[in-house]
Amino acid sequence: MDLFEYQARDMFEKHGVPVLAGAVATTPEEAKEAAERIGTASGGVTVVKAQVKTGGRGKAGGVKVAKTADEAFEHASAILGMDIKGHTVHRVMIAQGARIAEEYYFSILLDRANRTYLAMCSKEGGMEIEQLAVERPEALARIAVDPNVGIDDAKAREIVEAAGFDADTAAKIEPVLTTLWTVYREEDATLVEVNPLVKTEDGEIVALDGKVSLDANAGFRHPDHEALEDSGETDPLEAAAKEKDLNYVKLDGSVGIIGNGAGLVMSTLDVVAYAGEVFGGQKPANFLDIGGGASAEVMANGLHIILSDPQVKSVFVNVFGGITACDAVANGIVGALDALGDEEDRALVVRLDGNNVEEGRRILAERNHPRVIIEETMDGAARKAAELASQN
Ligand SMILES: Nc1ncnc2c1ncn2[C@@H]1O[C@H](COP(=O)(O)OP(=O)(O)OP(=O)(O)O)[C@@H](O)[C@H]1O
Ligand SMILES: [Mg+2]
Repeated sequence: MDLFEYQARDMFEKHGVPVLAGAVATTPEEAKEAAERIGTASGGVTVVKAQVKTGGRGKAGGVKVAKTADEAFEHASAILGMDIKGHTVHRVMIAQGARIAEEYYFSILLDRANRTYLAMCSKEGGMEIEQLAVERPEALARIAVDPNVGIDDAKAREIVEAAGFDADTAAKIEPVLTTLWTVYREEDATLVEVNPLVKTEDGEIVALDGKVSLDANAGFRHPDHEALEDSGETDPLEAAAKEKDLNYVKLDGSVGIIGNGAGLVMSTLDVVAYAGEVFGGQKPANFLDIGGGASAEVMANGLHIILSDPQVKSVFVNVFGGITACDAVANGIVGALDALGDEEDRALVVRLDGNNVEEGRRILAERNHPRVIIEETMDGAARKAAELASQN
């Protein structure tokens, strides 16, 4: 789960990372009110910042300095509702204005390839860190962090030395890095990024921006993380699927997909997208993996979710029987269709293969449901499902 900047700011503050005052606003009036409050500590100057979970907000015009509360009102009016890389801005953060002397970069992330954590640090932070990493990689220090040790004082020193800070600045940054490590470890994050980490004109080190990703698998350790979830952004079908413990991701196309095993479902998405090209660009409507023991109930839940999506015009059930035999899957489909009743008029293209396939196909043939079409191959079934979707 990715956090909004204002949530990251609050989390930083909780652990003692130096941050500036900030408040979130959803209307220009709230923004003005917040700017009146927050600006007092910085000569009236605040920064209005779009809260969207994507990078490059500044470049897109989503970060604007306001010298007065009225200016904050105007900037908030312009930024709220703005589209930044496909994300609509529903909130802004009003941040206290900083007098920036220098902008640095610091991040901690999971380095999967090397099975460790990685700290990255640069004296040249700001808005173009991706470009810096490509064009002048030597300006971005990369230091492996042993998960058993973390960023202690010695590691923090190693990082700032590798980044080339002068002794004075280094001494000020080091404790901030160890504190950011505390955030990373204690919150079970997979990313903590501060860009920019700034030195103010008074020589203070402050985290002016924060990106935090939390590991959802550690959610059971953090009951407080649930409140950070952005329910406004969760698709209602995805929420319903989550309640039923289904691995479902809503996509934009017209062909509903159910399969067993993430790999098979992924390749099913590919063959459907490919087959759909000749039928007016039909595409998969979702990803749904029913996993191993596909009981009638799981199949019914899955079908129910998929058919609740009005964008779905046909459904492709693609199952390769392994541990789950095809006859169990076929019984699941029949049970699900019976449970759904006669009102449903969208076709179900079924491709079964693998363990006990004959019996599975026999069960489906015997039930002879008018909306079920059995196909022998994955490609054939993908074509059929795409074709039916294009006709609906
Ligand atoms: N509170 C602040 N006071 C003064 N200047 C700020 C403040 N917050 C941000 N800025 C300036 O705006 C720039 C961009 O801000 P920020 O890093 O938060 O957004 P961004 O980098 O454009 O967005 P993203 O990190 O999503 O790419 C900063 O590099 C900094 O120069
Ligand atoms: Mg930034």
